[in-house]
Amino acid sequence: MEVSITEKQEKGTRPEDSKLAFGSIFTDHMFNMDYSPDKGWHNPRIEPFKDLSLSPATMMLHYGQAIFEGLKAYKTDDGNIRLYRPRDNFKRLNKSARGLCIPEIDIDFIMESLKTLLKLEKNWIPETMGTSLYIRPTVIATDPYLGVRASETYRFFIILSPVGAYYAAGFNPVNIWISKDHVRAVRGGIGEFKTAANYAASLYASEKAKKEGYAQVLWLDGVERKYIEEVGAMNIFFNINNELITPELNGSILPGITRDSVLQLAKRWGMKVSERKISIDELIQAQKDGSLKEVFGSGTAAVISPVGEIRYGDDVMTIADGKTGPMALKFNKAITEIQYGKAEDTEAWIEAVD
Ligand code: PLP
Ligand code: COI
Repeated sequence: MEVSITEKQEKGTRPEDSKLAFGSIFTDHMFNMDYSPDKGWHNPRIEPFKDLSLSPATMMLHYGQAIFEGLKAYKTDDGNIRLYRPRDNFKRLNKSARGLCIPEIDIDFIMESLKTLLKLEKNWIPETMGTSLYIRPTVIATDPYLGVRASETYRFFIILSPVGAYYAAGFNPVNIWISKDHVRAVRGGIGEFKTAANYAASLYASEKAKKEGYAQVLWLDGVERKYIEEVGAMNIFFNINNELITPELNGSILPGITRDSVLQLAKRWGMKVSERKISIDELIQAQKDGSLKEVFGSGTAAVISPVGEIRYGDDVMTIADGKTGPMALKFNKAITEIQYGKAEDTEAWIEAVD
């Protein structure tokens, strides 16, 4: 398939790197492609970023059949564009597609199309460390139909947004709140897919957490409400007695790519690392007896995000005196230096664009 390109006449300008926040500015162009049962994925095109025109009956609007990904492009000091584990994102997109009854997309073809789009938008990629071009591939169900079933037609699009830090706190510790009353996902459900509904399910508790001064919610499992799962937009790691622990993947946690990077590096560095169940009681106990040394989150938007405080009911746990700990620093440095081309890509995570 040939990707057609329609260039925008009047190009926008990228804000200064220091003014970039997360996700509100978009580049000049987007990638679009459609699916129908008779044609399969067809009409791939790069065109000016523009509003979608949809019937109010569009299935995605009513039943949430939508999946997405989040990955980043970085510019190195010598001006090259680099992607970080992009094929893993598209593998996960296809896994989400299978989970939501959406037709899969050829990964080589998406990669080529994305690279074409990125080359066209090269000037939109910020240059300072800590900034990047956030890439949001999305698939939505487009049948105009009110019966509940999987749609027959779909739109795939990729939009791009120059970004800085996800949290207002930047790399400083964030405070998180454990919800006692709300759950995000259950095993056997759709928690492990990157789909709109999981974020809809998280909003009520997230808004409550924000009112209490917490940046995000740390979710417990949906069945026993006892085991720690993940945070609203990142996976979670604990250093207890120098054992690096992250909840095991159980079907209701998003299998984070940054999570996997942390695990790979930890193993390479010879750390004691476990993917296992960790209960809220174990966490409270570890904090009480002083063995809980550090907590940090991992995610594309959040990168490595130290956690300074966790609240569970009336229990307020201060972690590492509310400061960034050495493990968070070490993982953050290692991962970002590979992403920005400042360190050797020892794990073969980088794919060059040009
Ligand atoms: N968990 C949730 C719910 C997320 O939204 C994200 C972000 O993508 C992550 C975890 C981290 O995943 P990744 O490292 O692949 O970005
Ligand atoms: C990401 O880290 O890419 C995310 O998708 C998190 C959030 C913005 C939904």
